Amino acid sequence: MKINTADFVISNTDVSKCPKEQLPEYAFIGRSNVGKSSLINMITNNSKLAKTSGKPGKTQLINHFKINNNWFLVDLPGYGYAQVSKSKRQTFQTFIKDYFLQREQLICTFVLVDSRHEPQKVDLEFMQFLGENSIPFCIVFTKSDKLKLSQLNRNIKVYNKKMTQTIWEEMPQHFVTSATDKSGKEELLQFIDDLNLKVANNL
Ligand code: GTP
Ligand code: MG
Repeated sequence: MKINTADFVISNTDVSKCPKEQLPEYAFIGRSNVGKSSLINMITNNSKLAKTSGKPGKTQLINHFKINNNWFLVDLPGYGYAQVSKSKRQTFQTFIKDYFLQREQLICTFVLVDSRHEPQKVDLEFMQFLGENSIPFCIVFTKSDKLKLSQLNRNIKVYNKKMTQTIWEEMPQHFVTSATDKSGKEELLQFIDDLNLKVANNL
């Protein structure tokens, strides 16, 4: 799929104020600093679309970006960022959870995990929350440019093992990406394109 237009639409902390249009929507979630906003910029070929930062906690709102006037990419705040005050962290969790529980247009969620790290409790818990609420998701390994291929494959294997040893029967579909070298872009866009087609055909 070719991205012709990518437009910022609205930011907020209230799911009831998200765009009302019934367009398919894809959300990016994960720990702070994992690379959610960078990946949105990489996919859309627009380094200025979503705000990124070397410091965790940059994205604090639900951000809707309209793509090709036809579907939405949603950039969300990160979870698991210890330096946000406890009360604020709670707010994140409540409105993030509300978003996932209430957003009917949400077709698939991409849970981003840093490909360098072992499976983290907070990510596994978040995926469990998605599973318990029947919210479809994929795993996206980020920052793959920082690893050698052999180490990358080893880490994905470890992740796979951890998931299937806990509550999952199988590893969800996964993607390996790098916002730096643009790997994984075509695979992600093809996946979204296929889902958009299914939605359009009511499949
Ligand atoms: P919050 O909004 O704070 O939750 O963070 P985020 O998940 O949106 O992360 P963001 O995209 O702002 O990126 C965090 C840092 O990681 C920035 O310094 C990025 O340049 C860097 N980064 C993101 N993706 C990649 C990648 O694929 N490779 C490398 N090497 N660095 C990356
Ligand atoms: Mg961000």
